[in-house]
Amino acid sequence: MKIGIIGAGNVGSALGKRLAKLGHNVTFAIRDPNSPKVRKLLEECPGEFEITILSGEIRNNDVIVLATPWDTVPAVIESCGDLSDKILIDCTNPLSGLSLDTGQGISGGEQVAALAFGAKVVKAFNMTGSKNMANPNFGNNKAAMIICGNHEEANNLVKGLAGELGFDTTIAGPLENARLLEHLAMLWINLAYVQGLGPDIAFGLLKR
Ligand SMILES: NC(=O)c1ccc[n+]([C@@H]2O[C@H](COP(=O)([O-])OP(=O)(O)OC[C@H]3O[C@@H](n4cnc5c(N)ncnc54)[C@H](OP(=O)(O)O)[C@@H]3O)[C@@H](O)[C@H]2O)c1
Repeated sequence: MKIGIIGAGNVGSALGKRLAKLGHNVTFAIRDPNSPKVRKLLEECPGEFEITILSGEIRNNDVIVLATPWDTVPAVIESCGDLSDKILIDCTNPLSGLSLDTGQGISGGEQVAALAFGAKVVKAFNMTGSKNMANPNFGNNKAAMIICGNHEEANNLVKGLAGELGFDTTIAGPLENARLLEHLAMLWINLAYVQGLGPDIAFGLLKR
């Protein structure tokens, strides 16, 4: 699958490195080829993916991953041009410091869908830390990856990708449930960095 990743930071690089190793055709769409994050990525994994400047070319991918800080999202999406009918994985959390910025009254996922008009937005990879995206295994257990979105086919495709990465995946209904996943992300952040449990924690979903 052709996967375009916007952002080469903690989340983008963790996902991109693993997806490339799984055989996907990964392109990082970045703003600055000389950014320390991009240089580190190229040093760690020479020749494993393409690097391009973010532009409308991003739509040449089958799937687009949005992994930039929340305050950059409007400008980043504008740089993408027409995203209609594209599958857009929204990994972002609408953070203001260590709090959720709910000033808009709707979830970040829905705000992304409003900005990326016509895109099939799937909220995913937001509710756990990037370290778990690099390795979701916890002994005999897998970290949970709960996702949501309004397009069944897109949800299933992203569920498949998360499964390939080793997560225990669950679809949690429509995109309006992104607010639940964003609150779950806040709980993870609080446990890891305020309560002091650190980033080697993940949520799991028990089933019987
Ligand atoms: N860190 C986590 O564990 C985690 C987990 C789940 C979700 N998230 C969410 O995922 C998103 C990314 O987090 P992160 O920790 O990966 O961030 P990060 O390490 O700070 O990386 C952000 C990336 O976005 C790029 N970027 C910033 N502004 C841009 C712009 N205007 N156009 C294009 N690219 C731009 C940065 O490029 P430069 O290198 O040029 O600055 C960098 O590559 C955030 O919304 C965060 O809330 C994070």
